[in-house]
Amino acid sequence: MLENNHQRSRLDLVIRPFTPEDAPQVSELICRCLREVNIQDYTSEQIERMIPGFSPDTLPARFAGCDTALALLNNTIIGIGLLATNEIRTMFVSPDHHGHGVGKSIMQYLERLALQRGVPELIVFSSVTARDFYASQGYHIVETTEHPIAGTRYKAVKSLPASL
Ligand SMILES: CC(C)(COP(=O)(O)OP(=O)(O)OC[C@H]1O[C@@H](n2cnc3c(N)ncnc32)[C@H](O)[C@@H]1OP(=O)(O)O)[C@@H](O)C(=O)NCCC(=O)NCCS
Repeated sequence: MLENNHQRSRLDLVIRPFTPEDAPQVSELICRCLREVNIQDYTSEQIERMIPGFSPDTLPARFAGCDTALALLNNTIIGIGLLATNEIRTMFVSPDHHGHGVGKSIMQYLERLALQRGVPELIVFSSVTARDFYASQGYHIVETTEHPIAGTRYKAVKSLPASL
């Protein structure tokens, strides 16, 4: 975990790590995304199976051992992403703020961290919904997978450049 490494992005977002106190807000953000956005590509039964895995009490354990990036605008959490060694996970941006570069800012933050750690290649298991977002960030699909809870996901990879 990076401690005391708050960064201000070009969008005037503050990017900082997750703390357990953030769990209720982060859980609400993720569940809104699932129910309002991912529902375009998954059945409501699939979405409701995913929800318990993002309840506030599960998040600290779920995020343990990962580098976390929360994006805040005016002290409100509007996005989250994780880096688990060489894997990008749990990328969600509040539906109120899609299309304004928040996801891209979080990805750039996590990719820089990965680069600092000497990770040569990142992978992501993308939702159907986020496939084109990851493509726009340079990730290439190498496999389509079926997860028992998350359903169809695309494994996508990106080689990191020498510097970002
Ligand atoms: C995927 C997600 C995180 C993207 O966040 P965002 O803040 O809206 O994305 P950005 O505004 O930073 O977009 C960055 C680029 O991706 C593109 N992009 C974003 N979402 C896209 C989409 N659904 N389809 C096509 N392109 C997309 C943008 O056009 C932009 O391109 P540019 O850099 O050439 O301008 C957000 O849409 C989301 O939370 N989706 C639902 C949850 C989800 O499926 N998460 C992934 C779990 S694996």
